[in-house]
Amino acid sequence: MLPAVLTGAIAASAGTAAGQQARGGAAVQSAVERGRYLITVQDCNGCHTPFTPKGEPDMSRMLSGHPQNIRVTAAPRLPLAGGWIVAINETNTAWAGPWGVSFTSNLTPDRVTGIGTWTEQIFIASIRNGKKSGVGRDLLPPMPWRMYAKLTDEDLRAIYAYLMSTPAISNRVPEPLPPAGGK
Ligand code: HEC
Repeated sequence: MLPAVLTGAIAASAGTAAGQQARGGAAVQSAVERGRYLITVQDCNGCHTPFTPKGEPDMSRMLSGHPQNIRVTAAPRLPLAGGWIVAINETNTAWAGPWGVSFTSNLTPDRVTGIGTWTEQIFIASIRNGKKSGVGRDLLPPMPWRMYAKLTDEDLRAIYAYLMSTPAISNRVPEPLPPAGGK
């Protein structure tokens, strides 16, 4: 949580680029704190951090995405009787629905398996355009990018700053799978 006095300081300095520059490291620190707050309240951990068997995010694997050792090889046949169209695996990181199976991405700054080589521009483009790495294929459900696309540039920059400050975790998330029946 940000103390009220700090939140006030961010609001007060937001309009003055010169003021932010003068603060230097303090401004970077407050962006990271703001990003931590935004990631928490928008529940990025609810999908991008694998759940323990108790059904809580395993923070030792914070934001590292679907665990590479948990193999999901085919989509379950959906819909199920009674109108059920979505299924989620035990780690809460593999999601099956009409789109096939999507796996939550590694958002840590690991340079090989995470977003460590992404610039701030790539990150903002990925959220605003809903595209893989900012320019690739369309992002699949349930990533709520259409809502996050409405964040201000300043908030997206803060989220990026926070993500880059998290521990890098090597975890290669698999590619999505097509729907059962190949449709
Ligand atoms: C309801 C689940 C869910 C939530 C909440 C969620 N995501 Fe995602 N996100 C996903 C899934 C699933 C994918 C992978 C989609 C795909 O492969 O097409 C994804 C993909 C992404 C990507 C694209 C990565 C790449 O390699 O291109 C970024 C960036 C991202 N999420 C950031 C975030 C951030 C930041 C938050 C919180 C503000 C967040 N997500 C919250 C499910 C979620």
